[in-house]
This record gives sequence, structure tokens and C-alpha cells, in this order.
Amino acid sequence: MNTVLSGIRSTGNLHLGNYFGALKNFVKMQHENNCFFFIADYHSLTTHPTPADLHNNVKQVIVEYLACGIDPEIATIYVQSDVIEVAELYLLLNMNAYIGELERCTSFKEIIRKQPDNVNAGLLTYPTLMAADILIHKANKVPVGKDQGQHLEMTRTFANRFNRLYNNEYFPEPVAYNFGEELTKIPGLDGSGKMGKSEGNAVYLIDSPEIIRKKVMKAVTDSGPTEPNQSKPDSIANLFSIMKAVSKPDTYKFFDDKYNDCNIRYGDLKKQVAEDIIAFNTPIREKILAITDDSTYLKKVVSMGKEKAKASASKTIKEVREIIGFKSF
Ligand code: TRP
Repeated sequence: MNTVLSGIRSTGNLHLGNYFGALKNFVKMQHENNCFFFIADYHSLTTHPTPADLHNNVKQVIVEYLACGIDPEIATIYVQSDVIEVAELYLLLNMNAYIGELERCTSFKEIIRKQPDNVNAGLLTYPTLMAADILIHKANKVPVGKDQGQHLEMTRTFANRFNRLYNNEYFPEPVAYNFGEELTKIPGLDGSGKMGKSEGNAVYLIDSPEIIRKKVMKAVTDSGPTEPNQSKPDSIANLFSIMKAVSKPDTYKFFDDKYNDCNIRYGDLKKQVAEDIIAFNTPIREKILAITDDSTYLKKVVSMGKEKAKASASKTIKEVREIIGFKSF
């Protein structure tokens, strides 16, 4: 069985793009693998959140993951800072991470351009902390996008370097978990590309029906197809892609046929897309609202995750300490 680990940045609410891009697969994957999902709150300190923001961001991510169907009885969902062993492994791995390679990391170069007045050591060693997250459970699969490819490569470098230094094939080489065909890219409502928080083109799982209707009805369309079976421009194709994800196949076909016959009324298409997003979102949204207020349940989930993650992490740390040569007197 594979040990799969995913770290989740605690920034903002989840949108349809997050759900269909990764979360849907996580929910499925948890039954077939030994899965760890954690909220990367240590990592988030690189940008200095306020104490109140930090806690709320962590809570919000956990709530939304649970509402989407991550089952805390099956997978291990935990808060990174609850597992102090991660910080110890980070320290140990840092002894073997070279300044040069950390400075050459693309994400580091990018972030120092973005926040030149806060170039802290935590940013420089972000890849070491990420390696510690992965190696602490000896995970062999990590479901990450292309943007994290270099970080994963560095994790392999650190793991191999440790193994060579101590002449011990201890850490496995983690590779990206590939969902293959199943990855669905959800475009933004503005037709400009991917749905994203910073792009301002997203429908959030927590959006109310009124907000969803407003957002969808505002989406820019064109004057309609003029020839049968014409290919769809981005600002129309996006509505169809969203429809494909949330609507019934018959509904999709109905509107697709109308488009191909040059008979489509975009007002009707948008109304249908909005209502189908609402139907899709409603059960998730209700769960989000219920879980947010259920502090007893949340407390139980978080402490259960902590216990399971700590069991796995403390075993690794104990073995790593032995390999390194720490001995008790
Ligand atoms: N760096 C990841 C991101 O920005 C988050 C992350 C932290 C992560 N630690 C991880 C992802 C370990 C996978 C494994 O999205």
C-alpha cells in the first residue's frame, strides 16, 4: 500500500477548481492508500499572519476538507504544528541542505521578488520543511501540481543525501502522485484560464445561491454562434466546462446541441449553470456551516489526527536519531 501525503496551504476558501482539480481525487484515494493530509501552518508563518488569522485559516481549511468528504476515520488529517517531530526532522535535514541549492530554488527567487522586505530564513528553507513533512511519514507518493515539482525533487535529493551519508537506505524516494486522466481543470468565470482565488473568477464552495447566481449571470459571453458546430471561444467554453463538471450529462448535451445548431440562448445556459452549481454546492455548504459551529467534533477530529500522525512521526524520528548516532546515556 502507498503512503500518500499532501500538504495544504491554509490560504482562503476552496473553490470549484480546487474541488474538481484535486479534492475529489483525494476523497477517492483515501480508501486505496494510507493517506496523510495536513494543514501547513508552520509554512504559513513565512508571511507573518496575525494570531487570529492563523487560527481561522487553519480551521477553515479543515472544515472545508471534512465537508468535501475527507473521512478522519480513514485518512489522517492533522495540523502540521501539532506534530513537533516535523520541526526536529526539519532541523536535522537542514544540516544537509546547502545554501546554494536553496537559493537557486525557483520559488525562493520568485518570493524574494514579491516580498523583498521579508526575506527570512524560513523562506530559504521552505523546501527543507516540505521535505521533513514528506519524509517524516516515509511517504512515497505526493499529489502535487507542476509548481511543486522542484520542491519534490529537492526532497529526493535530501533523502538520498541522508541515505548516502549514513550508508543506510532509510528514506524512500517520494514521487508525484499522478491522477492521470482524472484531473479536471475548471476554468474561471471570466474565461481567462484557470479558476483561481487571485484571479477573482472563482465560485467558492461556501458561496450562497444568491452570490452564485450573481457571479454566473455576470460572466461575459458573445453574440452567439453563427455557423453550425463552430468551436467555442474561451468565454463560452468555460461555462460548458463548468457545466460538464456539475450538471447531468443530458443537460450538457441539450445545451451543446443548441450551441451547435446556433439556437442557444446564453441567458438560459447561465441560469442552468448557476442552478446546477447551487445544487452541487448546497450539501457541501450545509456541511461546512454545520461543522464550523461544532467545536466538539472539530476538536475530536484534530486530536485524532494528531495522535495518528504523531505515532508515525515519532517512529521515524526515533529511527533517524539512532541512525545519526544520538544515544541515550
Ligand atoms: N508547498 C505546498 C504548496 O504550496 C504545500 C506543502 C507544504 C506540501 N508541505 C508539503 C505539499 C508537503 C505536499 C507535501 O502547495
